[in-house]
Amino acid sequence: MIRIEHLRKEYANATPLQDVNVTINDGDVISVIGPSGTGKSTFIRCLNLLETPTSGNIWVDGVCITDKKCDINKVRQKMGMVFQSFNLFNHMNVIGNIIAAPVDLLKIPKAEAYEEGMRLLRTVGLADKAQNFPEELSGGQKQRVAIARTLAMKPNIILFDEPTSALDPTMVGEVQAVIRDLASQGLTMIIVTHEMRFAREIANRVFFMDEGGIYEEGTPDEIFQNPKREKTIAFIRHINTFTTEILSRDFDFIGLNTGLEEFGRRNGMSQKAIYRLQSVFEELGVQIILSALGENVKMNLSVDYSQTEERATMRIKYGGDPFDPKDSDNILSLKLAENASESIVYERLAPAADEALTTAAKTPAAEALTTAPAPAETSAAEIPFTNLVTITIK
Ligand SMILES: Nc1ncnc2c1ncn2[C@@H]1O[C@H](COP(=O)(O)OP(=O)(O)OP(=O)(O)O)[C@@H](O)[C@H]1O
Ligand SMILES: [Mg+2]
Repeated sequence: MIRIEHLRKEYANATPLQDVNVTINDGDVISVIGPSGTGKSTFIRCLNLLETPTSGNIWVDGVCITDKKCDINKVRQKMGMVFQSFNLFNHMNVIGNIIAAPVDLLKIPKAEAYEEGMRLLRTVGLADKAQNFPEELSGGQKQRVAIARTLAMKPNIILFDEPTSALDPTMVGEVQAVIRDLASQGLTMIIVTHEMRFAREIANRVFFMDEGGIYEEGTPDEIFQNPKREKTIAFIRHINTFTTEILSRDFDFIGLNTGLEEFGRRNGMSQKAIYRLQSVFEELGVQIILSALGENVKMNLSVDYSQTEERATMRIKYGGDPFDPKDSDNILSLKLAENASESIVYERLAPAADEALTTAAKTPAAEALTTAPAPAETSAAEIPFTNLVTITIK
């Protein structure tokens, strides 16, 4: 059990933790989420004293680790940490990395440590890499070795600071699978992550950090489905929705694609689904719609993701004369967009775009509308968008 009372951490220019009070029970799996710079890393680094708290107390299994007389090394042995950047020793092979600390610090005989190390490598699926060096491994493999190395110290608690954020998207899944496996074994874990679907699936408690501490805490369903406080609500809405406005043909296409990629990853979309999302936008949004718009380029793109249906809904709104992209003579782009999507539905909006959206049932093409209309609070409210294309992507 970890008990935290009045934890405060000040830096010269920032006080990310003002007054944190919380108890973490044995077997808890806690996802720590929140905007950048709100003290998530500082929080978990304070727990194993990689950062020295300015004031307050932390008890781990009844031992006050913030007491000056406390043996920090003992605390760190109980509390393993896995970093974003793996921190493996590059001059040692994989098994060497894993047994170094147990042999040096826990004084475990080398043969025994080796055997245990091999067992751990099997549990993370990497026994055949025991003799390889870190540089010969992929990012996902390095991170799995780092997890095995942490486990070799037999910690009661593992702290993860964005364990998958330095990984190539294709490797996120393998590392998450290993962490999921640990969670099911009853280890106490605290995981800082920006991967929201993972945060939701893995945890029994979620801490949303802001305003110098744990701004809201709850079960995954409470935080992700029914957040109570203002900043949590805004954060969760932002996760599930991607919105942007395009006001020039020279808009930042690469930036937008990166935004879509990040949106997809936050929501746990598969890499293929993310490609489909990007491809639909490129073919339908850029090649067809943007090309067809006259001088006045004005386009609004919004994407929602439904976790339960595992479906993204992209809405492209634009002004000007009625234009159904399915009438485009750019057959190739149209085919590519159709291949990447489930459905493409066009409708003409009455000039008051927002009203037309919420009363979509009255517009002529509404019978064809298969998905719910966009929520009324989109920022495009004032702009007279007269065309809407709704695309669903699985
Ligand atoms: N060693 C340091 N010295 C000075 N300021 C620091 C230090 N570490 C963190 N900070 C500041 O404390 C605040 C919280 O930082 P922290 O890294 O904990 O945020 P975070 O929530 O983990 O953000 P991110 O999601 O970007 O990783 C930031 O304003 C940061 O600039
Ligand atoms: Mg951080």
